[in-house]
Amino acid sequence: MYAEILPFQTPASEIAGRQPVGIILSGGPSSVRDDGAPRCDAAIFELGVPVLGICYGMQLMADMLGGVVEPAPEREFGHATVQVDTTSSLFAPLPEAVRVWASHGDLVASLPPGFRAVGTSDNAPVAAMENVERRCYALLFHPEVAHTERGVDILEQFAATVCGCDGDWTMTSFLDEATARVAEQVGDGRVVCGLSGGVDSTVAAMLIQRAIGDRLTCIFVDNGLLRLNEAAQIEGRYAEQLALTVVCENATDRFLGALVGVVDPEQKRKIIGGIFIDVFEEVAGRVGHFDFLAQGTLYPDVIESVSVVGPSVPIKSHHNVGGLPERLSFELVEPLRALFKDEVRRLGEELGLDELFVWRQPFPGPGLAVRILGEVTEARLAILRTADAIVADEVRRFGWYRRLWQSFAILLPIQTVGVMGDERTYEHVIAIRAVDSRDGMTADWARLPDDLLAVISSRIVNEVRGVNRVVYDISSKPPSTIEWE
Ligand code: XMP
Repeated sequence: MYAEILPFQTPASEIAGRQPVGIILSGGPSSVRDDGAPRCDAAIFELGVPVLGICYGMQLMADMLGGVVEPAPEREFGHATVQVDTTSSLFAPLPEAVRVWASHGDLVASLPPGFRAVGTSDNAPVAAMENVERRCYALLFHPEVAHTERGVDILEQFAATVCGCDGDWTMTSFLDEATARVAEQVGDGRVVCGLSGGVDSTVAAMLIQRAIGDRLTCIFVDNGLLRLNEAAQIEGRYAEQLALTVVCENATDRFLGALVGVVDPEQKRKIIGGIFIDVFEEVAGRVGHFDFLAQGTLYPDVIESVSVVGPSVPIKSHHNVGGLPERLSFELVEPLRALFKDEVRRLGEELGLDELFVWRQPFPGPGLAVRILGEVTEARLAILRTADAIVADEVRRFGWYRRLWQSFAILLPIQTVGVMGDERTYEHVIAIRAVDSRDGMTADWARLPDDLLAVISSRIVNEVRGVNRVVYDISSKPPSTIEWE
């Protein structure tokens, strides 16, 4: 099913112009009782199109349609159990009790006229409500986060049963449309594309090549912050398996030189982003003339870069979004802008990309620099690389690599006391992070089997010189992030 995300103040007339079959009002951090809280155009409820309110979206719907929203006696945050009414279309295939993820400080104290409660939890008398005649539905919890069991089923019920979507927006139909769009945009121009070795940029390049053939040139920059043997593996795979023209540039010394003495996470990210742009610009200038710059931008990047009101607060600067286009005066080609990661993977399979690329776990642009807390040095990179390779090895051996969104090691900036043989040691600590996620926007720590954790820990302490302790990160996102910096 195809969906777009629009700012809250988009006029109902503009929304109607897009001919939606359903509208979802999302959650958000405000309270409807706050001055300046975001409010949608009231005419949205008069379009005759089904509306689903989620969390803040439910409170807004209740408030705008004549209900009463009040502060809850206790803020509900985290797991909750909701008793659902399975006579509601939203919950028809569900059991009567579902575990959900909730995060709200307000509750609906009195329903708007014509609505009935179809879900209830200990802290929220109205955890879900509907008005079938008006085609309005709402949930106080978050069906879109991985922590809500059957959340996807609830969204699917809304899309399929209430809105009548039949799910024919497939990757096969997308591939043909996207190829035609690129061919039309580029005409007889030339495109340069940065490859990271990850699935997004690889799939973007393959799709563009399908549209314009050898008028595409790719650049792969080795920043010296990749994992063990990774640069050579990536270069090898590009050369052997994909008929792409790739220029490989080893810029390790420039990146590591600029990181000497730097410990602040944002400063690391900015330095790495800046040098990446310099190197990319130099290589592109050396290779030829280009009219377009291709990027594997995905929909989450697009959403995160829209500032709706006032300055948005960046959580981390992602150097692959922004930066490059501003400096190089190329027109952008971004064929994956409408897609999420799981869709890009399906598109990769459609394009015949092999499993090692398609199922490569995401890896951040600034690489191991954001997994070495404190200064990035050759010696510390060597410790992290060896530990990280052990994590990857064992996770694969236990058959968990594809099940996890990411699994990796982090080098902490502290030393702890240990004992090896009869000797006291005072050495580094490695943290292990493994998470489940659908798109990286929310994540839960993975319940890895004890045996896997045990073998990772003993191998790291035995095989990585300078490490005497291994810890496992049991935080979810939010409130933590996936990467430590
Ligand atoms: P966080 O740490 O923000 O990460 O929870 C969410 C996802 O994004 C990846 N990540 C990056 N990817 N450039 C990237 O291409 C970056 O600068 C960057 N920083 C984080 C992270 O690995 C996770 O999958």
